[in-house]
Amino acid sequence: MELDVRPPRSKNKKNKSQRSPRVENTAPEAGFRPKPKHAAKPATPSKTGNHVENRAPVVRPRKTAKRPSEKLPVILETAPDKNHALLDTGDGLKLEQYGDIKIIRPEQQAIWGRSQDDALWDSANAIFTGDTDEEGMGRWRFPGTQLGETWPMAFDGVGYLGRFTSFRHVGVFPEQAAHWRAMRETIKRSGKQLRVLNLFGYTGVASLVAADAGAHVTHVDASKKAIGWARENQSFAGLDEMPVRWICEDAMKFVQREVRRGNTYDIILLDPPAYGRGPNGEVWQLFDHLPDMLDGCRDLLSDEPEMLILTAYAIRASFFAMHEAMMDSFTGYKTQGCVESGELIIREKLRGRALSTSMFSRWLPETSNE
Ligand SMILES: C[S@@+](CC[C@H](N)C(=O)[O-])C[C@H]1O[C@@H](n2cnc3c(N)ncnc32)[C@H](O)[C@@H]1O
Repeated sequence: MELDVRPPRSKNKKNKSQRSPRVENTAPEAGFRPKPKHAAKPATPSKTGNHVENRAPVVRPRKTAKRPSEKLPVILETAPDKNHALLDTGDGLKLEQYGDIKIIRPEQQAIWGRSQDDALWDSANAIFTGDTDEEGMGRWRFPGTQLGETWPMAFDGVGYLGRFTSFRHVGVFPEQAAHWRAMRETIKRSGKQLRVLNLFGYTGVASLVAADAGAHVTHVDASKKAIGWARENQSFAGLDEMPVRWICEDAMKFVQREVRRGNTYDIILLDPPAYGRGPNGEVWQLFDHLPDMLDGCRDLLSDEPEMLILTAYAIRASFFAMHEAMMDSFTGYKTQGCVESGELIIREKLRGRALSTSMFSRWLPETSNE
């Protein structure tokens, strides 16, 4: 399995602590409360890793301190460029251009009709024909020439490899470009070597964009395979000499340890799946663990923090949920900032319709928001 999005083997085992409520409202407002046992409480995820029916009630600290400013909804749009374009959508499918390759994949949200003629769709080089369920083993069909597993891609001059994966992903989430550009500008503007932490970093495009812009990067992912792909991307990009630490570890455990060590980062990116597992079987359950993860990440921000960006895909929640979780985490925070939340969308190249891909929430210090 390549993306660590498997459901747990046993769904029914509840331990004692899971059944009794945890009451934590005596904790200090901005303190990170490490819960090293988070992984030992496997809850029951639904098929998509969404709502957890038997989740133990958690009472989070009551907060009365100053809240950050807020801005929403914010829609961050990715326009077509020479490396990636959303050509057409409709009838439950999307047709995309990735470098020289045209790809058709299922797109649940495309509940409208296609705008382009069959000739364009028929020119696709690769079609994902697998189970549309994220957990299914998908298959690719190549109507013309059989293609290899990877092909060359680039983002604003940073090379990486597109990749046909069995989970229908192609090794990159192009809508993240909006975050990558904001991060790159911040790194360049700062004039110093910022420290960037990329959690759930997958194939590392964000890490490489940050390294290329001059940052010192720490990239964390639970999957050895994904880390291998990220390192391949680093070599492909010609960035082998750049300072990137590739760490194969459970993201929550890594954050807890870094907090204990007092390490800090100027920019933190986190792109957690709804459900995942660390290398030692640690369970990541977004609805259970996100608030503690946000608190931990907040505590890892440096004295001159630049940004914290959270993205979430395929969960049954609105961006308001991400937004309020971020607002809560940054209530009483030492640096006044603004939480901006909304959706990432990709604009079709030919018809101009918008395809929403995910929700995001980001904290920025107030100064860079004016
Ligand atoms: C594909 S990316 C996220 C993309 C997007 N959020 C989505 O789910 O479609 C998710 C990454 O998180 C990693 N991952 C899953 N569980 C993890 C954990 N507990 N700790 C660290 N990384 C984890 C996976 O290996 C994968 O590379």
